[in-house]
Amino acid sequence: MAAGRRGAAVAPGGRKAPGRAAAAPGRAAAADARRDGPGGPRAALTSEVADPGLAAAGRARIGWAERAMPVLGLIRDSFQRQQPFAGLAVAACLHVTAETAVLVSLITAGGGRLHLAASNPLSTQDDIAAALADEPGVTVFARSGVDRQTYYEHIHRALDAAPALVIDDGCDLVNTLHTERPELLPGVRGGCESTTTGVARLRRMAADGTLAFPMVAAEASRTRRMFDNFFGTGQSVIDGILRATNTLLAGKVVVVAGYGPCGSGIAERARGLGAQVIVTEVDPLRALDAHMQGFRVLPMADAAPLGQVFVTATGSRDVIAREHMEAMRDGAILANAGHFNVEVDVRALAGLAVAVNPAVRPHADEYQLADGRRLILLAEGRVVNLVAAEGSPAAVMDLAFGVQALALSWLASDRPGDQAQLLPGVHEVPAEIDAQIATLALASLGVEIDTLSYVQEEYLDSWRQGS
Ligand code: NAI
Repeated sequence: MAAGRRGAAVAPGGRKAPGRAAAAPGRAAAADARRDGPGGPRAALTSEVADPGLAAAGRARIGWAERAMPVLGLIRDSFQRQQPFAGLAVAACLHVTAETAVLVSLITAGGGRLHLAASNPLSTQDDIAAALADEPGVTVFARSGVDRQTYYEHIHRALDAAPALVIDDGCDLVNTLHTERPELLPGVRGGCESTTTGVARLRRMAADGTLAFPMVAAEASRTRRMFDNFFGTGQSVIDGILRATNTLLAGKVVVVAGYGPCGSGIAERARGLGAQVIVTEVDPLRALDAHMQGFRVLPMADAAPLGQVFVTATGSRDVIAREHMEAMRDGAILANAGHFNVEVDVRALAGLAVAVNPAVRPHADEYQLADGRRLILLAEGRVVNLVAAEGSPAAVMDLAFGVQALALSWLASDRPGDQAQLLPGVHEVPAEIDAQIATLALASLGVEIDTLSYVQEEYLDSWRQGS
């Protein structure tokens, strides 16, 4: 595993390896002892969910997701035996979905206590939150539709557990930990980040010298980018747009901004449904790739008057700005797949509108412009696949979360005080983890592959053998 490691007792930045409560896994006493860590004793944590009465419905949906997640099932069996998180508090900021619930069950099966806040104010599935709040070893702070203040309060409540490990999706939890709860930093062994935008923020923190512990860029793993971003986001973004609008994509002009793994997946799926797809890019290589794949590539200013459905997937802001909206056709649909709700300039849209018809359909708001044109904004400009649909399908999250579970257990084994501590900073997912996940997935699908013969291995390792 090619990752930086640090020496034993004192971490860079002078932080000392924290003392750790010696506690049996899964016991209430352990939870209380851990809460008495840095920052002093804390009140017992109690879940905050919209409606505990939804727990049974949530459990049923989690059971359905589990059927499509054999890889996580296999990892859970091994965690149950090995207890990699025994006695550890884990704070997570993730979309509260059925698939996330399956990941949570792995951590508690492995002896950890999980404290979960939502990573998006609109993506929380309240039935899942209720079901999770019922599980031993889990506290949940998540309600769909909370305002920004409550969103951050929930992150603080998850951090109140004084976590040894963190799981983030967008870097809001890690950011809050560093900026507002620095007293907890010495207790954190490390964590993993789920999405591209979060990893980009972490890399900026690391470059600043601010990041105080190791974070594994789970998003950057081959598994994640190939399966989650391309197949999972590609399909579920289309699903979200269809559920919110019931529009026919065949024959429509669909503009996809950004041709990364997410954007290319969306573009392919839209083309598969018969749409004429235009791609906008700022990276020449990716633009060339889109062109070679047969997509029309245009600047957004030229695409704006042509498009009927717009989807942003860039990780940047104001990709669809006022001047683009001014040029759009009546009835144009605007959706975002990027992590934050800044890719479509929603404020500019509100400024342009003379009237807003909220929820002309669930998750679709109609903005009427002065000249009578109407623009339809989906999911308030937030991740459309998670707000208007259910995010990536369970079969995809099986692989993506498998990477995260194994990365987390790798971090958990990297105990402060050992010779082999990972350095603070952003770490790639070890290639062994990607290979292990793919091997488990193939086994669960009953797919067999060839193995290299001794002669082939020798040939591939040698530079002496040519033609
Ligand atoms: P990426 O960074 O690999 O690709 C983004 C592409 O957008 C790049 O090729 C970049 O050159 C391009 N781009 C940047 N600014 C642009 C602009 N102004 N106009 C046109 N193109 C522009 O990222 P990836 O993995 O494709 O993810 C994209 C976004 O989606 C990120 O914010 C990521 O966090 C998010 N994401 C969302 C998921 C979901 O379920 N909705 C799942 C996974 C990632």
